[in-house]
Amino acid sequence: MGNLANQAIIVTGGAAGIGGALTTVLVQRGAAVVAVDVNEAAGKRKEQDHSERVVFLKGDVSQESVAKQAVGLAVSRFGKLTGLVNNAHASTQKPLMALTQEDWALSFGTGFNATLYFMKAAYPELAKSGGSIVNFGSGAGLRGLILQASYAAAKEAIRGLSRVAANEWAKDKIRVNVICPMAHTEGVEQWKINHPEQYKESASQIPLNHFGDPETDIAPVVAFLLSDDSRYMTGQTLMADGGSIMLR
Ligand SMILES: NC(=O)c1ccc[n+]([C@@H]2O[C@H](COP(=O)([O-])OP(=O)(O)OC[C@H]3O[C@@H](n4cnc5c(N)ncnc54)[C@H](O)[C@@H]3O)[C@@H](O)[C@H]2O)c1
Repeated sequence: MGNLANQAIIVTGGAAGIGGALTTVLVQRGAAVVAVDVNEAAGKRKEQDHSERVVFLKGDVSQESVAKQAVGLAVSRFGKLTGLVNNAHASTQKPLMALTQEDWALSFGTGFNATLYFMKAAYPELAKSGGSIVNFGSGAGLRGLILQASYAAAKEAIRGLSRVAANEWAKDKIRVNVICPMAHTEGVEQWKINHPEQYKESASQIPLNHFGDPETDIAPVVAFLLSDDSRYMTGQTLMADGGSIMLR
C-alpha cells in the first residue's frame, strides 16, 4: 500500500512539521525527495538522515525561481520528477479588518502563488510520467474559521486551482488532489499558545478524539495519493482530520 519505489517527489516545506514527516515517510516507501524549505538546519538534518535519497534545497517557495530550481534539481539528481507535494504555507491570524497588505501577501505568496509556481514548473516533467500532485487545503477554509481570512481564502483558492488542473491535465494522466490535515506540529503548538480558545474548540470537535500524528496519520494518506493505489482519483479533497469535517 502506498508503494513509491522509483518515484522522485518534491515536498515544499519538507524540512519540518507535516512536510518533514512526509520527507521521512516517502523515503521509507521507496521514493527520492527534493525537500524545499527556508529552515536550513532542519533541512540539512533530513539530508543527512537519508543521504542517498533526500536533497535539500534552501529556498522561499513564494519565489517562482525556487520552483524552477527544485524541478531542475529533481531531474539532475534523480533523472525525473513523478510527484509534487505543495505543503508549505505561512500566514498570520488576525481579525479580517486588521489584516494588512503584508499579511495577505504572505498567505497568498507562500500558499497560493507557491502552489501555482510549483505546479507550472513541474508540469512538463509530470506529463512525461503521468505524475501526481498533492496540494494542501485546510478545515479552516472549509469552515471559515474566525481570524483566518487570509489563510482560508488562499486555501480555498488552492482547492479551486486544483480542480481546474485535475480537469485540464487529466489528458496528460496527471492527477491533482487536495488533503486537509489536522496534526500536532510546531505550527499548531504556536497557534495553541496564541489562540488557546480556538485550539480548544477545534480539539473538542475531533470525533477520533486526538490531533493527528504527522508520520502515522497524515503522511500515509499523502503517500496513497502519490501512489498508483489512487490512480482512479483526481480533483478530490481528502479530509485527514479525525472526522472533524465530513464532506458530502
Ligand atoms: N497542522 C495542522 O493541523 C494543519 C491543519 C490544516 C492545514 N494544515 C496545512 O498543512 C501544511 C503543513 O502544516 P504544518 O502544521 O506542518 O506547518 P508548519 O508551520 O509546522 O511547517 C511548515 C514548513 O514549511 C516551511 N516554510 C514556511 N514558509 C516557507 C517558505 N516561504 N518557503 C519554504 N518553506 C517554508 C517551514 O519552515 C516548515 O518547515 C500547511 O499547508 C498547513 O496550512 C495544517
